[in-house]
Amino acid sequence: MPAGFQQLGGETLTGTFVLSVFTAVLGSLEFGYNIGVINAPQKIIEADYNATWVHRYGEPIPTGTLTSLWSLSVAIFSIGGMLSSFCVGLFDNDDDNRRKAMLINNMFAFIGGSLMGLSKLCRSFEMLILGRFIIGIYCGLSSGLTPMYVGEIAPTSLRGALGTLHQLAIVTGILIAQVLGLESLLGVEDLWPVLLGIAIVPAVFQMALLPFCPESPRFLYIVRCQEHQAKRGLRRLTGRQEVGSMLAEMKEEKRKMDMERKVSILELFRSPLYRQPIIISILLQLSQQLSGVNAIFYYSTSIFMKAGVQSPVYATIGAGVVNCAFTVVSLFLIERMGRRTLHMLGLGGMCICAIVMTTALALLDSVPWMSYISMLSIFGFVAFFEIGPGPIPWFYVAELFSQGPRPAAMAVAGFSNWTANFIIGMCFQYVADLCGPYVFLIFAALLLFFLIFTFFRVPETRGKTFDQIAANFDQHSTTGMMDMDMDMDLDKPSTEL
Ligand code: GLC
Repeated sequence: MPAGFQQLGGETLTGTFVLSVFTAVLGSLEFGYNIGVINAPQKIIEADYNATWVHRYGEPIPTGTLTSLWSLSVAIFSIGGMLSSFCVGLFDNDDDNRRKAMLINNMFAFIGGSLMGLSKLCRSFEMLILGRFIIGIYCGLSSGLTPMYVGEIAPTSLRGALGTLHQLAIVTGILIAQVLGLESLLGVEDLWPVLLGIAIVPAVFQMALLPFCPESPRFLYIVRCQEHQAKRGLRRLTGRQEVGSMLAEMKEEKRKMDMERKVSILELFRSPLYRQPIIISILLQLSQQLSGVNAIFYYSTSIFMKAGVQSPVYATIGAGVVNCAFTVVSLFLIERMGRRTLHMLGLGGMCICAIVMTTALALLDSVPWMSYISMLSIFGFVAFFEIGPGPIPWFYVAELFSQGPRPAAMAVAGFSNWTANFIIGMCFQYVADLCGPYVFLIFAALLLFFLIFTFFRVPETRGKTFDQIAANFDQHSTTGMMDMDMDMDLDKPSTEL
């Protein structure tokens, strides 16, 4: 093995490959950073909104207006993501390429980061809200482009595990934002604009590194028919001169793709062949977002405060650490235990934690040590999320569809994810004010519903080819019977890390 090469899961990974994956997931890191960054400084930014209001209108901001402005600042990020995630498929053509798309996308991070960073100086909460919207556009596009690029350059045997790196980078971004948001670092009155503006840093790195990453050979060959360039990319990524077998595999994929026509979004719902998998895809995305996890990541500091936790900001960081740790756990379990089992385990665990949390919050006034129980149940809630509902929906959709319908399915799935993300960001505070300690019971009920749905409707896909998965749905559309346990190689994980 040449010096500087890494061995993983029986695959040799070159420096170019590691650099390319690292560069791509900088987009996921940016995504996570912007999810987590708005949480800790809520109170100080709200105070600034009030100062601006007083400066403009000579009176303090009404409480309801402040809640609305803050909820909008949090949630408008998801509107940006919602709109742009729907457009990911537009980059799947002859003129654009993955690298160019990622490069162009960085412009949104620059504009969004700058607007947020300068908003205090300009005494304008509108700039902050607009900045959140524009950086949301960046994140929506990168939530499609990153998994697509990484999936395309990954060796087949590591595709699932490398797919999880997208989520790992997201949770790392959340944690970095939480740490930088500490009062001892950037979470103070004068420095919060730096905290928000710093979001341009991953984009700067991504732009600087992208020229050193090869274009996706799979894209060059299958979409662009550029065999020579595809071979050159493969040699750089694998460090091997002989790439004939990899090219043969792409040829097979291209042959199949040439036979399949592109499927429109409408057809996904009309055709009995795609209806089941698209419903499953949407519900899996909804199970990720309506589990309530972002209620924690957007609002945990105030949740911990209400739960009587002494240092809410540190508890938030604790949740971020648990989040990262359990994503790594999932990365190692995913190819051993399968998607279906882990997803159900995660949903079930979250449901129980939500009930414990509610009980602890309800008893808080009479039993003071309940604040510890509520903190632990929040940690448990996050841990179970990362076991299944966090990483799985992101890559499961791509597994359910073959080449033809995949881009349309990814757009629908991304849109559902971001829409639900928006609803939680926008409504949680109102509902929490209305329901008090019982707010998480709503999530418990939703989690139970998604658990039952997964049990009856979601098939296992581990170790299956796209053909086998599609055949199962085909059989279902004609006979109404579906084999839930499609995983025939239970003792033979396809990827050993
Ligand atoms: C997933 C979700 C994202 C959430 C994160 C938490 O990536 O898509 O909305 O904030 O997990 O770890």
